[in-house]
Amino acid sequence: MQQTLNYRKTRFIISAPDIRHLPTDSGVEIAFAGRSNAGKSSALNRLTDQKSLARTSKTPGRTQLINMFQVEEGCNLIDLPGYGFAQVPLEMKKKWQASLGEYLQKRENLIGLVVLMDIRHPLKDLDRQMIDWAVDSGLPVLVLLTKADKLKQGARKATLLKVRKTLEEIDGDIKVEAFSSLKGLGVDTVHRQLNNWFFEHVEFVDEDDMDVESHQLSDDE
Ligand code: GTP
Ligand code: MG
Repeated sequence: MQQTLNYRKTRFIISAPDIRHLPTDSGVEIAFAGRSNAGKSSALNRLTDQKSLARTSKTPGRTQLINMFQVEEGCNLIDLPGYGFAQVPLEMKKKWQASLGEYLQKRENLIGLVVLMDIRHPLKDLDRQMIDWAVDSGLPVLVLLTKADKLKQGARKATLLKVRKTLEEIDGDIKVEAFSSLKGLGVDTVHRQLNNWFFEHVEFVDEDDMDVESHQLSDDE
């Protein structure tokens, strides 16, 4: 039986303008990146089965800070500010993009990247850059084609195959799946991938062992 984390227990930890404001001793993290409005926050809410864990919006640029959520001690999910939005002042844009770049390049806790792209507009330049960057850094990538409910089955499948084929040309650990926060499509697959990444990096103490430990502690008192 495959071990799984209980994603429903995920809770908000902190919103940070840059990595200096993030804890460093918090364990490993998997980040959700993508163009603004791609559906990152919605995906996080769906995956954790919580309506408003991450703030979602029709207005692009809603998530302006690095938001950290803890699934379990040592296992975190990160909602990143979106990139590629047009209608915000240039200064603000620069600030967000700088904090995003810095997070991706310098954050040592990062073990995997989920790149979300609207299935109707996949693989824009910045998405490609993001994927190339992750592969160059040796990070595994899960690409999610979001809002898959917006396409009929045939078109959905065709886009999925096309994106897979394009990304096969890159020599890296990249998987591509269709996803819908609205319909719950792809949720199990994403859970499996997140579990795999987390379990590769984190050793969990057996609950029985934890009991033993706490008994020993109280014996000492
Ligand atoms: P930023 O925080 O601006 O970077 O955006 P985001 O990537 O977090 O997007 P968000 O989750 O806020 O979703 C943007 C819009 O897309 C919202 O209006 C959502 O309701 C909608 N949306 C997200 N996921 C889905 C989906 O699976 N299906 C459909 N039909 N709409 C979705
Ligand atoms: Mg968001």
